Amino acid sequence: MMLCILGRQPELGRAELAALYGSTKMIGREAALISCDSFDIQATGGTQKAGRLVLEIPHTNWPAVSRAISEYYLPKWQAGDHKITLGISVYGKTHVRPRDVNNLSLSLKQKLKKAGGSLRALPSKELTLNTAVSHHNKLGLNPHKIELLIVQNDGKTFVAESTGAQNITALAKRDQGRPKRDAFVGMLPPKLALMMLNMAVGEAASPQNELVLDPFCGTGVILQEALLRDYNVYGSDLSDKMIDFTGANLEWLQTTHKTGGKLTALHQGDATNATWQNAKNITAVVCETYLGQPFSATPSPAKLREVQGNCNAIISNFLKNIGAQVAPGTSFTIAVPAWRNLTTKYITRLPLVHHLADMGYEQTNQKPLLYYRDDQVVARDILIFKKPLTK
Ligand SMILES: C[S@@+](CC[C@H](N)C(=O)[O-])C[C@H]1O[C@@H](n2cnc3c(N)ncnc32)[C@H](O)[C@@H]1O
Repeated sequence: MMLCILGRQPELGRAELAALYGSTKMIGREAALISCDSFDIQATGGTQKAGRLVLEIPHTNWPAVSRAISEYYLPKWQAGDHKITLGISVYGKTHVRPRDVNNLSLSLKQKLKKAGGSLRALPSKELTLNTAVSHHNKLGLNPHKIELLIVQNDGKTFVAESTGAQNITALAKRDQGRPKRDAFVGMLPPKLALMMLNMAVGEAASPQNELVLDPFCGTGVILQEALLRDYNVYGSDLSDKMIDFTGANLEWLQTTHKTGGKLTALHQGDATNATWQNAKNITAVVCETYLGQPFSATPSPAKLREVQGNCNAIISNFLKNIGAQVAPGTSFTIAVPAWRNLTTKYITRLPLVHHLADMGYEQTNQKPLLYYRDDQVVARDILIFKKPLTK
């Protein structure tokens, strides 16, 4: 059983895990239990840390939890002759304070010292070590560098031993190292692109049999992540400049990273009326559509109606156009715009999100899956659906 600590928008991380592993059991808002033997955190975008569940304690009493952890770990560590590096992170609705966590580390250090062992405890001012600290200290990547992920919820304590944190250095390199970037089209963060790919494709038995189309490819972030998953890719975009950018970025990726799969086609095309070559071979359509103009402040109701209507028309026409070309069974994960009123927090969605069935699609996610930063007006509304096998 693996325990996953989900990212900033945990509903998205959960939807990704559900697509990859089937059922997930949430523990509070930010942690999920999944049943699997091995878990590759670098293959997911929405899990920040993951670990093997080692203890399930039927209460949240910290002194007793600390005792259970000492009894479980000290004999193991005493038996080895390596110095242990230890980090502890506590999540969930908990009364535990950072100093309780530091006290547990200190007590483990003293007890181990008495027994002739040695331990370096990573101090933390917060209840959790941030992902960067876990990653840079290689916690979970070596049997002597340990991070305990402790989740308290609903009167229970779950203790997992980390098997690694998200590689934020590699993600940042993929994001910032690309030769062509364009702030105006609003590049998708690679981890959201990865989550969307996983939501669409799931656990691919043979990645080389997948063909992922991004018909709004922009600078190519989704295609880049798809190549890293060893999928074949196909890109198109209204703008010739974006096609050049995607081409340059994918070339850069293939010289700097190990990728499987290949770029089968890349061309200019208006998604509302384009014809895609061999469209019946496309297995998944993953894209961030046109999001309308960017806003730094909440727009007037009239402006919002205008942009919403414009985006709704373009994206509905795209969905009708592509639906007629791809094979039944093709999966879709698309990000469309939704607008947040920064004062009232009201979310305005596109009318089409309620009409996917009328366009012949079968929707997977019933609840909205939104991705945004707190100061953002334009959120990404993630829709997961399929062209059904039979109509
Ligand atoms: C939000 S951006 C996508 C950015 C992309 N995900 C990336 O990471 O760079 C939307 C893209 O849609 C393209 N676009 C706008 N209208 C389009 C249309 N009707 N058909 C195809 N592409 C369109 C724009 O040129 C832009 O590159």
